[in-house]
Amino acid sequence: MSTAVDRHLVLVGMMGSGKTTVGRALAARLGRPLLDSDALIEAREGRTVRDIFAADGEDSFRAIETEVLVQSLANSEPAVIAAAGGVVLRAENRSALRGSRARVVWLRADPAVLVERVTGGPHRPLLDDDPEGVLQRMYAEREALYREVADAIVTVDGRSVNEVVEAVLR
Ligand code: S3P
Repeated sequence: MSTAVDRHLVLVGMMGSGKTTVGRALAARLGRPLLDSDALIEAREGRTVRDIFAADGEDSFRAIETEVLVQSLANSEPAVIAAAGGVVLRAENRSALRGSRARVVWLRADPAVLVERVTGGPHRPLLDDDPEGVLQRMYAEREALYREVADAIVTVDGRSVNEVVEAVLR
């Protein structure tokens, strides 16, 4: 029988919601490996997310993102999986999440707060122009998708990393 202890814990949410930071803390607390989608994509491809977007385009990036998600979910050791923000866009990814025995937690953040938290940088080329507008549009487009895959929703606004970790564990 499956129990919470032998299932992956997957964090989903927008860029800047803290998936990697919270995931790292959760992995340490639970004594599990952290599988961070963007880091796995970059290691696998030997180039940055930005380079993949620039050279091959978003569709190619999304295809790699799907492969990495499926591989992470197939990992035999229970892990904390910090999924990349766009992972909910593809129906096949949402099916993979729902079909797995993983617990999926949506780290929900107000897009206005995200604007203050996110930095562009090498793995966020989509935020190069008008980050505020992009984040607002993304949130509107994705909110229902995060909700669709989530077993639980944890609001991160105004909370410390530790408070979010405790809320996820609860
Ligand atoms: C993206 C989120 C990024 C990265 C890429 C696209 C998105 O990951 O995969 O820039 O579409 O939301 P993080 O959510 O880890 O920032």
